[in-house]
Amino acid sequence: MRHLMNPLDFSVEELDSLFDLAEDMMKDPAKYADVCHGKKLATCFYEPSTRTRLSFEAAMMNLGGNVLGFSSADSSSAAKGESVSDTIRVISCYADICAMRHPKEGAPMVAAGKSLIPVINAGDGGHQHPTQTLTDLLTIRSLKGRLGSFTIGLCGDLKFGRTVHSLIEALCRYKDINFIFISPEELRVPDYVTEMLKSRNISFKEVISLEEVMPELDLLYMTRVQRERFFNEEDYIRLKDFYILTKEKMELAKEDMLVLHPLPRVNEISVEIDSDPRAAYFKQANYGVYVRMALIYTLLELGKKEA
Ligand code: NCD
Repeated sequence: MRHLMNPLDFSVEELDSLFDLAEDMMKDPAKYADVCHGKKLATCFYEPSTRTRLSFEAAMMNLGGNVLGFSSADSSSAAKGESVSDTIRVISCYADICAMRHPKEGAPMVAAGKSLIPVINAGDGGHQHPTQTLTDLLTIRSLKGRLGSFTIGLCGDLKFGRTVHSLIEALCRYKDINFIFISPEELRVPDYVTEMLKSRNISFKEVISLEEVMPELDLLYMTRVQRERFFNEEDYIRLKDFYILTKEKMELAKEDMLVLHPLPRVNEISVEIDSDPRAAYFKQANYGVYVRMALIYTLLELGKKEA
């Protein structure tokens, strides 16, 4: 039985197959409309979510399966003091696969250790968000036609943003990626990430000004300042509007640069950018459904059964 805790849990070759499958599902949804008949996905969300939880549920429904779950810790027995280990043992009796989001780093991993069904990390604190990374990689592969040989700017809250941490780790396995980290001093990417890049001789630089690097970028990955992970509200208020992507800034960018964002957006991308052909964030949300369909299919080993 396989879980997904970190994007590196799949090899580059396995990811390629997963993305091929997601693209096939996108092209021919009818072929997969019933493959999860009689199967159930549990979504156990101890933290707020719109896209991740609902795209998981839509993915399971698109495959002909059913869904059950909870969308906040308050409405689960966590509010009574139950541990994730006990919860997952019980959920294992009700469902065939589980997607779990938790504010504590490592909680889905603890759950996976006790689970009788595959567990997918749907975001653990400021640590990892592997299914967002699968979404991001599929988006880049589909819209750019390649994974590798590009300069990517990651902008915003690089300290607490789990999507950024997972994406950097995943991209490190592809060739000729040049990272530009754009953040205020207080929200720089954690040291463990820069140490890892240095030890592997992967090219990166850290800057504060978005304008300065805009012309160099093939991809710009914008992120929200993660209010819920701040220790005090004053710091959040001071930093929340540090970057706002505007039309003027987009004029400095390459004609084929893509703007990605895991969403939700707060203020960091002006709505006037939404109609720019380079804005790819809503397409990205759509890819998220197909990659989760492919993931559920793969972890439930449905392809193997047919063969
Ligand atoms: C992200 C998350 O939860 O980390 N959202 C998502 O899943 N698409 C990004 C964020 O909340 O800023």
